[in-house]
This record gives sequence, structure tokens and C-alpha cells, in this order.
Amino acid sequence: MSDFQIGKAPKSILFVCLGNICRSPAAHGVFEHYLKASCINIDVDSAGTGAYHAGEMPDKRMRKTAQRRGYDLSYIRARAVRQSDFEEYDLILAMDESNLHDLQDMCPSDFKNKLKLFLRFSSTQEHISVPDPYYGGDAGFETVLDMVEDASLNLLKLIQQT
Ligand code: 4NP
Repeated sequence: MSDFQIGKAPKSILFVCLGNICRSPAAHGVFEHYLKASCINIDVDSAGTGAYHAGEMPDKRMRKTAQRRGYDLSYIRARAVRQSDFEEYDLILAMDESNLHDLQDMCPSDFKNKLKLFLRFSSTQEHISVPDPYYGGDAGFETVLDMVEDASLNLLKLIQQT
């Protein structure tokens, strides 16, 4: 398990990627699924550093891959990160280093400690970033879910311990 610590248990978590149609909605749906199963009440949302896909459902390939593992992502709609997110959310988790840099540029200095790479919570610490599957084949979507499930379970355990 990751030795990464969180201070206070977060009451709200925002997952962020570039388009908010592949990686961050997967994390949003999977983490929310685990929270429900554990009867833990945390406000979860996801957003993109870009607004190109605002209003869209998650990518069909991501939805299909998630559905096969029992996660319904069809209720999620893409939106761009907004300035109010930095104040509103306790923990803002970036899917890759580029997303993190973009968030750091946008974020007021008072809230920068809320920004973290999602894979800091992974069990292996083997990867820093969840690879962008958008332009690749089906295997990329399975990889996203493998990483998302692992980091989500570890984050949940940390929250349960705080
Ligand atoms: P995401 O993947 O950041 O995981 O949602 C992408 C989705 C769309 C694009 C890039 C990445 N795009 O360039 O449209």
C-alpha cells in the first residue's frame, strides 16, 4: 500500500484530467461506487483542464470498459475546471503531470496544497501518471481502470483510517 498520508479526511474530492471524458470520469465513477459500497459520504466530482468536451458523456470506450467491470459512468457529464473548485474541494487529484501543472497555474496559492497526483495513492508507486487512452486502442482503457481501481481502493483505506 502507498505510504502517502492525508491529514484530515476530505469531505469533497475532484478528479481532473484533460478532457474529462476518459480518465477523470473513470476515477469519479469508480471512487463513488466504492464510497457507496462502504456507506461513506464524500462529495465527488470530475472536471477537465480543457473544455472541448463540456456537456458530453464519458467516451463510449471508457463507459463500455467500466460497465464490464460493474461501474456505470453514464450519469457523468464533462465540464471544465472552474476557479471556484479550488476553494470548494478539499482534495483535487490530477491524472497526469501535465494536468497537475495546468492546475498549479490556475490555482490560488492558498489552495495549492489541495493539488496532488492521483497515483500518489497507488499501491506500487510504479507510475506517476495515468496514461491518456484517447488516441490508443482498447487496452489503454483497461490500463486506466486497473490504475484507477488500485489508487481508489488505497485512497479509500486511507480515508477510513483517518
Ligand atoms: P481524458 O482523455 O483527458 O482522459 O478525458 C482525453 C480526451 C479527449 C482529448 C484528449 C484526452 N482530446 O484531445 O479531445
